[in-house]
Amino acid sequence: MIAVRAPATSANLGSGFDVFGVALGRPADVVRVERAERTTIEVTGVGSQYIPEDPDRNTVGAVAEALSAPARIKIDKGVRPASGLGSSAASAAAAAVALNELYDRGLSRRDLVPIAGEGEAVVSGAAHVDNVAPALLGGFTIATDRGVTSIDASIPLVACLPEIAVSTRDARRVVPTEASLDDLVATVSRAATLTAGMCRNDPELVGRGMYDAVVTPARAELITGYNSVREAALDAGATGVTVSGAGPGIVAACDGRDRRAVAGAMVDAFVDAGVDARAYQTEIGRGARVL
Ligand code: HSE
Repeated sequence: MIAVRAPATSANLGSGFDVFGVALGRPADVVRVERAERTTIEVTGVGSQYIPEDPDRNTVGAVAEALSAPARIKIDKGVRPASGLGSSAASAAAAAVALNELYDRGLSRRDLVPIAGEGEAVVSGAAHVDNVAPALLGGFTIATDRGVTSIDASIPLVACLPEIAVSTRDARRVVPTEASLDDLVATVSRAATLTAGMCRNDPELVGRGMYDAVVTPARAELITGYNSVREAALDAGATGVTVSGAGPGIVAACDGRDRRAVAGAMVDAFVDAGVDARAYQTEIGRGARVL
């Protein structure tokens, strides 16, 4: 039996829609695999009642299929589904690493990125890899059509999760299909600033780069209380705040000293907006690891 822990992730970071992602120190999924004649899946943990155990409809089933690695698979969810924290990517990445070990396939973490990405496609309808790349490689990742670049950054973060669900499919439907040249220039400038901040472990620059005028405003409409939570986080010392992945989670960058205050302010602002929420005080962390 092989057990692998893979972390929650936050994709986009505002200016890097479908490109940027970071691994979070916590929460995480744990996937256990054993060889079997055919693939079966059992899911426990947070939100497990919403996750299909049919291998044809589960992200992990697609990974087992892609690796020709039938197994008895147990998924212990620590990352809530439909949260914007890369729930399906965490399971897909953990399963890819575990099955690669179990069947001695010899694939590298980078080789596993498109395979885990196929698992993502089962739930979101598109094989984008901005969540599975950091879940596998750790750190800050830049996913492009020419491969993935990863940077070992260290930035304190708060991931705040309201008790509302937004599916990735729905959140992709509201994304505008066109953008003005001004918005394009602004987004590139923010993305470049954020990348420089990651290279320098500078929360100020990372926060400044966590902004875009096209995708995030459209998605913020789906999240009750988004604007007041963002303002509250900034007032409490966050250097940048944006929608995490497809939402409804919200991610804030900050200096380590402000993290507790930022987390409290975000939860309070959600509660004032009539929505229960919890906040993870976390940081950019490692990728999947065999336990
Ligand atoms: N980049 C994706 C999106 C991540 O924002 O739709 C969600 O899986």
